[in-house]
Amino acid sequence: MGDLEAEKHVKYILSVEKKKDDFESLVLEHLRMNGAYWGLTTLDLLHKLDAVDPDEVVSWMMECYHQDCGGFGGNIGHDPHLLYTLSAVQILALFDRLDVLDIEKVSDYVAGLLNEDGSFSGDIWGETDTRFSYCAICCLSILHRLDKIDVEKAVSYIVSCKNLDGGFGSIPGGESHAGQIFCCVGALAITGSLHHVDKDLLGWWLCERQCKDGGLNGRPEKLADVCYSWWVLSSLIMIDRVHWIDKDKLTRFILNCQDRENGGISDRPDNAVDVFHTYFGVAGLSLMEYPGLKSIDPAYALPVDVVNRIFFGK
Ligand code: FPP
Ligand code: ZN
Repeated sequence: MGDLEAEKHVKYILSVEKKKDDFESLVLEHLRMNGAYWGLTTLDLLHKLDAVDPDEVVSWMMECYHQDCGGFGGNIGHDPHLLYTLSAVQILALFDRLDVLDIEKVSDYVAGLLNEDGSFSGDIWGETDTRFSYCAICCLSILHRLDKIDVEKAVSYIVSCKNLDGGFGSIPGGESHAGQIFCCVGALAITGSLHHVDKDLLGWWLCERQCKDGGLNGRPEKLADVCYSWWVLSSLIMIDRVHWIDKDKLTRFILNCQDRENGGISDRPDNAVDVFHTYFGVAGLSLMEYPGLKSIDPAYALPVDVVNRIFFGK
């Protein structure tokens, strides 16, 4: 099978983070804050977060911060959005630098995106999606400010996006999709509301995502893709059904997606690597307790030691 090329992946991530001008060719420029979260979390899982200078990252991040509203943009000069605000808060948590934030201001921004029906808008333009429910709930929880929203209302909206197959969609009536399931199950886990999930039914739908090649897909009839090792596996762990998939076959699938020469992991064997799939590959292996990796929390998508620091102090 061959092992995890940990050192090569570290080199690959560092080279992507450094090539600022080139970065957009690998991770779209407007997603830079997400890209930073994927890359830095991967480094931490590989025990190499100390290879980057936290001050440099934090000062770039604060240039993406909008003092007027309290949200973060995806890059300098870009509009604020919940997706980037969560990544920013996660990165600061990784570096143990949440103290640089005006926590009241940021949590007011997030809480202000809650709508009357319990859904969350991603930004002032109003598109709603259960992805944003997750971003808001995860963010407020990390900041210890869940009391700023009506959690029950937010939870009942998520429950209204549950389908007859046990899965969840992006809006009520939206098709079940593993990425969306992660968001809904994650938000329910964080708020202590997993009793709303039919664990056997959802567990069955999720374990059916394993394909003949061992990889996981995101919906029926789709090809396996490394990123679903995260979306599906984290959901299975949160509902306590991870033993329903074949871990050895999935491990082999992920390892076969490595660029063994230059580092990085791709969506499926022999494709071009990117930071997104490198993160989800390493995070998936971490969820399966692959040796030598830090373990990652399936709901917060942060290393377990970071989550413990947030909630139980050092
Ligand atoms: C599928 O993406 C994934 C989703 C719909 C979930 C996205 C979740 C977030 C942005 C929340 C933050 C996540 C973390 C880990 C902290 P896709 O567009 O690739 O789906 P496709 O395979 O159907 O194209
Ligand atoms: Zn993918």
